Amino acid sequence: MNPCALFTGSESNHLWLTEFERQFPQLNIQDWQNIVDTQTVEYGIVWQPSPAYFQRFPNLKAVFNLGAGVDAILSNPAVPEQVQIIRIEDGGMAQQMNEYFSYFLLHYYRDMDLYQQQQKQNHWQPHTVKSPNQFRVGILGLGQLGSQLAEHLRGYGFDIAGWSQSKKHLEGVTTYTGDDQLKNFLQRTNALCCLLPLTPATRGILNHQHLSQLPQGAVVINGARGGHLVATDLIDLLDSGHLRGAVLDAFEQEPLDPQHAFWQHPNILLTPHCAAQSEHHVCAQQIGSKLKAILSNQPITGLINRNTGY
Ligand code: GLV
Repeated sequence: MNPCALFTGSESNHLWLTEFERQFPQLNIQDWQNIVDTQTVEYGIVWQPSPAYFQRFPNLKAVFNLGAGVDAILSNPAVPEQVQIIRIEDGGMAQQMNEYFSYFLLHYYRDMDLYQQQQKQNHWQPHTVKSPNQFRVGILGLGQLGSQLAEHLRGYGFDIAGWSQSKKHLEGVTTYTGDDQLKNFLQRTNALCCLLPLTPATRGILNHQHLSQLPQGAVVINGARGGHLVATDLIDLLDSGHLRGAVLDAFEQEPLDPQHAFWQHPNILLTPHCAAQSEHHVCAQQIGSKLKAILSNQPITGLINRNTGY
């Protein structure tokens, strides 16, 4: 079997290689830099590959992305048109996203941000607990992760809506579709959860125009990409009091600059892009099985449509 070239650009390379070797020794998955006969490589497994990767393997047919979002591949000018891109579907990340969003949604729903401020002032003041159906959660993006989040959150009794580019039907979820319905979706949402893919159409979607359509006192949780958010617009709307708070996991530049205004902002909670991480054994199993399917001409799911970017 010709080698399959792995690129992660990080110290986790050997963990991935060990996992692939353990589960699929016959697939001959090797570190991209150790492969000598580069012309024979037709398949790759990558996370944020450099242009040099694609230049090194001119006969690539397909690459498997080691994550859900393929924006780093699609924005790479060295990726040839004919190379198919295949993403991770869930890969253990849906459960982690559910935990991440539930944690922060409950934080605001149960007024933990207010209690944290009160504690700093030695101030004893209980707040009335709202009925969960008065807490209107809106999920931007109803793909693998967004639709599972909607399903999970139904268990809390929140009033849940979702927005996506193409029409989706999810039990117990009010769905909105396309640019025409975005305003109505935002106007009814107290807690906006972003799980969109980053594409030219969604870049900057969390901007002043859209965030100001949320009701006064709304919160924003971005578990997707930093490129969805216009940082200065968010800060303006927090400072003016229109927004109550924001939780940010992903940033335009990572690691986030130590001088960035987000770090010390009193109404921002931030985490270092850890909301959901690809689980090695689950993702290796998924990718190895799909590679075996392709090699025996079987159909697979998870192919990226280059026009939509997801
Ligand atoms: C993580 O950010 C992913 O895209 O899987």
